[in-house]
Amino acid sequence: MTNAAKSIGSEIELQRWVPSRTIVLVGLMGAGKSCVGRRLATRIGRPFIDADAEIEAAAGCSINDIFERLGEPAFREGERRVMSRLLDGPLAVIAAGGGAFAEADTRTLIAAKALSFWLRAELDVLVRRTAGRAHRPLLNAGDPRMVLQRLIDKRHPLYAQADIVVDTGDQPAEATVERVLDALRTYAAARVSAGPASLHA
Ligand code: S3P
Repeated sequence: MTNAAKSIGSEIELQRWVPSRTIVLVGLMGAGKSCVGRRLATRIGRPFIDADAEIEAAAGCSINDIFERLGEPAFREGERRVMSRLLDGPLAVIAAGGGAFAEADTRTLIAAKALSFWLRAELDVLVRRTAGRAHRPLLNAGDPRMVLQRLIDKRHPLYAQADIVVDTGDQPAEATVERVLDALRTYAAARVSAGPASLHA
């Protein structure tokens, strides 16, 4: 078999494991949700949607501006509305903003309509990956390491409610995508062996 045929074969094999649900990546700022999500979407032949970009488009201004002019509660309400719309749309891979899955209503929506992956990363990785970027209002409001540590304490127990957890560190995004795909296969295989009732749950 030629390499091209092998690669088409493995892509077809891959499709068998991908659930007919939108995939939502959750996790803290700097975990790599957008970077991994974009590559994952390409691999499984789905559109990629960056929820933060959708919120900015809906509001007509940047997330920094929304926080400054309207405050965080208004941002969270907009985030919930945008996520709800996206989850009712065509199957996709969505990178959620870091706070989305930490909000009870948005978490409930994601749990009901999507398959969620928590990209779990350690503090040092998050600090490194978010350094020198000014577009995240929560990190502009104090020492980023302290802010991220507080968010880890508060949000990790909530992110742990995601369907699947994938650890990510300093490896290239492609390696994390492979981990996500492996986790997807394991998850799908477990659902199949659990019986037909759970196949489309
Ligand atoms: C936030 C994360 C950001 C963005 C906003 C708030 C958070 O998204 O939604 O700045 O509360 O963690 P990213 O996780 O994509 O940076």
